[in-house]
Amino acid sequence: MTVSLTTAQIREKYLQFFEGKGHLRLPSYSTVAPDPTTLFTVAGMQPFKDQFMGAPAVFDGVANRRVTTAQKCLRIGDIENVGRTLRHCSLLEMLGNFSFGDYFKQESLTWAWEFLTSPEWLGLDRARLYVTIYEEDEEAFRIWTEVNGLPADHILRFGADENFWPADAPKEGPNGPCGPCSEIFYDRGPKYGNDTWAEYAETRESARFLEIWNNVFPQFDRQDPLPDGTPVLKDLPFKNIDTGMGLERIATVVQDVYDFYSNDVFAPIVAKVAEMSGQAYDGPQSVSHRVVAEHIRSVSMVIADGSVPSNTGRGYVVRKILRRACRHAYLLGLREPSLFKLVPIVAERMGDAYPELRENLAKIGATVQSEEERFLKTLEGGIQRLGGLLSGMERGAVLSGQDAFVLYDTYGFPVDLTKEIAEEYGITVDEAGYAESLENAQEIARAGSKYGKSELFGGNQEALEGLPRTEFVGYDELSVDADVVALVGAGERLSHLPAGSEATVVLSRTPFYAEGGGEVGDTGRLEWEGGAGVVRDTRKTPQGVFLHDVLVEEGELREGVRVRGVVSGERRATERHHTATHLLHAALRAVLGDGVAQKGSLVAPDRLRFDFSHGAALTAPEIAAVELLVSRWVSANFPVTWQEMPIADAKAAGATALFGEKYGETVRVVRVGGSVEYAGQSVSSMELCGGAHVRRTGDIGAFVILGDENVAAGVRRIEALAGDAATAWVRERLNAAAKVASLLNTGVDGLEARVSGLQAQLKAAEKDIAAVKRQLAEAQMGGGSGGAAQTRELGGFRVAALKLAGLEGNELRGAADRLLDQSGADMVVVAGEKGLVVKVTKDAVTRGAHAGQLIGKLAAAGGGKGGGRPDMAQAGVTDADAALGALDTAF
Ligand code: ALA
Repeated sequence: MTVSLTTAQIREKYLQFFEGKGHLRLPSYSTVAPDPTTLFTVAGMQPFKDQFMGAPAVFDGVANRRVTTAQKCLRIGDIENVGRTLRHCSLLEMLGNFSFGDYFKQESLTWAWEFLTSPEWLGLDRARLYVTIYEEDEEAFRIWTEVNGLPADHILRFGADENFWPADAPKEGPNGPCGPCSEIFYDRGPKYGNDTWAEYAETRESARFLEIWNNVFPQFDRQDPLPDGTPVLKDLPFKNIDTGMGLERIATVVQDVYDFYSNDVFAPIVAKVAEMSGQAYDGPQSVSHRVVAEHIRSVSMVIADGSVPSNTGRGYVVRKILRRACRHAYLLGLREPSLFKLVPIVAERMGDAYPELRENLAKIGATVQSEEERFLKTLEGGIQRLGGLLSGMERGAVLSGQDAFVLYDTYGFPVDLTKEIAEEYGITVDEAGYAESLENAQEIARAGSKYGKSELFGGNQEALEGLPRTEFVGYDELSVDADVVALVGAGERLSHLPAGSEATVVLSRTPFYAEGGGEVGDTGRLEWEGGAGVVRDTRKTPQGVFLHDVLVEEGELREGVRVRGVVSGERRATERHHTATHLLHAALRAVLGDGVAQKGSLVAPDRLRFDFSHGAALTAPEIAAVELLVSRWVSANFPVTWQEMPIADAKAAGATALFGEKYGETVRVVRVGGSVEYAGQSVSSMELCGGAHVRRTGDIGAFVILGDENVAAGVRRIEALAGDAATAWVRERLNAAAKVASLLNTGVDGLEARVSGLQAQLKAAEKDIAAVKRQLAEAQMGGGSGGAAQTRELGGFRVAALKLAGLEGNELRGAADRLLDQSGADMVVVAGEKGLVVKVTKDAVTRGAHAGQLIGKLAAAGGGKGGGRPDMAQAGVTDADAALGALDTAF
């Protein structure tokens, strides 16, 4: 049994290593991308693009041009391969170190080498490391060979398709920071494949040579190419470093497991899937275990970051991933919602590094469960549609690939199931045609982004062309009658929707607000004679056609019928949060100054989120002042009014407009009819806004700011609650504080004093323990003379060996140092319960002694693994006595 590091330990070691090299450790940024090039954060560098381009490197008031992070990233371009291969994952943790015009190639590559090979860090075998470099990068070649001592035949050179980041950036973009890169590979050995490194130059695909770390040297700012296609690379103001090591991969290597599904994060999830389904994790069905395990991890993380399943943008992707997981759960025979039961395992495994998983545990579970319920219903809709198709066909006929794809894409219907059901009718499925339709859809998906090759889904545009603008009456009315103008699904106009199906419904007029201006789309119900359905979300096209995502629950919905649209009561809660957002914006400008500009917002029934430009974290008094200002508006119960007017008039009246937003000739202005005082100024709120608002500020009720955080350089994010959500949140916190206080036998007011007292006690106790451990070591070593150690002549060296009970790690190393001093031996071997340290004097090294080689032999005898330098080496073992016992035969 080898003693290897857990995923969490590797993450921590990496961050510590770079902290030791002067880097500032920052927490992971959100999975919500900080810039619009992608929907999700796809690389550790993405939040730092401005710093690469020359912006000041100041984070929460701390200036540092070296930063290190473990960043959660979502890469969904290859989602269909996840689970089918053992390599692809949609969520990856990227360990990165960054230099903004500070150190460059030499430090980056030598530190990478040190971290990977030094026994103090990962201790990987140098002989198994290989690298690729950009074809023209002689400097990288020199550093790898001359400084790190890598043999030249461990290096391959590639063009910009492999060794530039983003790949092919000079030709393909995106614009912005980019540069050549050097990738580090680990040879996992012949049990993974009999290919050679030289062959990799041709194949570029290997299960044996695993890419573990990309070192990028961003020094160019890619611009639009010249009209003839010539790439344009402008020098950045300085040279930068951006590296990314996939934690899942390095854990696979360090733990020497076959693939990441067997590492310490994934194995328990896979085991639970097997347990719930009663299906063992092997054979062809194991694809389903993997899809479920991988996807639940991604989905939990993005939901923790505030994305929820919907039909647009990020929400669409969340839904797509979750539904893929649901399909595979179904294939494993799970007919009831079950994925949500995996969420606690994800939180348990990753919650230390990403506390948002624990904080949002209940919400993530509930979101997953309700999507599962919905999906299982949709699946029934698919079964009906498929039944309709099949019953109209002859036995022996072939179901078209396009039909199978529509079932998959629209109804989430797995092609394997389609095949199975078709077989019962004596019908086969055109699988090649299905694969082609799937490939086309993926092409569209990938076209969206150069960074993540990911998003941009769509497909209904053509079917929606020519439909009239929808009359929106929802500012004043929440329930109206209207005609069904069109039904659209999977890119086609449909004449009717049977019960159980979900599609886009267009009405002649609507009370449902369409997602826009940060406000979420309305939900609610449609009712008609003989049927009813749920409105799950509302969007609109740029031409003003409102699209209702409807799931038909009963009866059949037909084009042309009259329906009643009823907006859900949640809208009132959304209105509270929207007006509160305007007041928050005005209050922030009053308290922090006019530098505050809105950068983005989310207004939902259960919360609001507001992003704005500001260089530093808010202080507690600033937050209190902002909150108090909003509360004053609320208690003044001013009227809130809205009015359409020419944009020039709105601007002349001083209405706040959003920078970079496109407005029409006529705009809607929302005004709070009264001002409040702050530091001698009178503060008021008037904004251009198309959203839904309360009638009077008093309708907002309670208001509370949950906190502020950094989302990108110079951009802060505030989350806040209004109304019942605020009251409930405050109550929950008060209860939690009271509970902790009672555990500590004090009241909430006494908590601070009590906790500092306990901290002081703990510190003193830790100090005592360290002193006792030192004494313990001294006593076992024979009190300063080193006399307890057995010293003997072995292979021409005087070797002192000693077993020290109760000591580990640093303590062992310290003891080995002292013993080497005290005993006068050439080398010392010190063993704890599970560890082994060998130290050799300089003189003995020159006479040929080698700590690393010796420890390798001892560790092997002790059931472990280790290595190191000639003068110092350490190992983990399972049987320290056996390791010491091997000393006599080791020379
Ligand atoms: N940004 C580089 C990557 O994602 C490190 O590979």
